[in-house]
Amino acid sequence: MTVRSSGSQPVRVEQDVVMARQLSRKLAQECGMRLIDLTKLVTAVSELARNTMVYGGGGDMDWQVIEDNGRTGLRITFRDEGPGIPDIKLAMTDGWTSGGGLGLGLTGAKRLVDEFELDTAPGAGTRVTITRWT
Ligand SMILES: Nc1ncnc2c1ncn2[C@@H]1O[C@H](COP(=O)(O)OP(=O)(O)OP(=O)(O)O)[C@@H](O)[C@H]1O
Ligand SMILES: [Mg+2]
Repeated sequence: MTVRSSGSQPVRVEQDVVMARQLSRKLAQECGMRLIDLTKLVTAVSELARNTMVYGGGGDMDWQVIEDNGRTGLRITFRDEGPGIPDIKLAMTDGWTSGGGLGLGLTGAKRLVDEFELDTAPGAGTRVTITRWT
């Protein structure tokens, strides 16, 4: 796997969530992603950025344009130093929320991308990495 380009974007306040959306859209366009896939990716980014801000107390979005076996992909990690998620299985259940949301953000995001990785533990913060190939 080769990293073609990479960068980082803070996800701390509401405006950052908007920036994260716009940045992911621009990167997906530059990757030549089809509109349908681009829309899915931006929706996933929206959900994960919001979680980072709301539950993680803010964090960062790291992105990479990658190439593997001749295909191009966009890989995005959301990371925060927040409380972490005590029960991953529960958090990955449709409709489960700790905070009066719809409980569809994580599960929805997972369905919208090709690869989804959740790495979290109580007191150790949260990292969610998503990848969408073109
Ligand atoms: N970055 C995070 N740090 C700590 N807890 C998190 C984080 N992201 C998600 N969670 C926990 O996982 C739960 C499920 O998240 P999910 O995004 O699926 O639903 P939600 O945010 O509650 O509702 P919505 O459907 O509006 O997104 C959250 O309620 C929260 O308890
Ligand atoms: Mg959410």
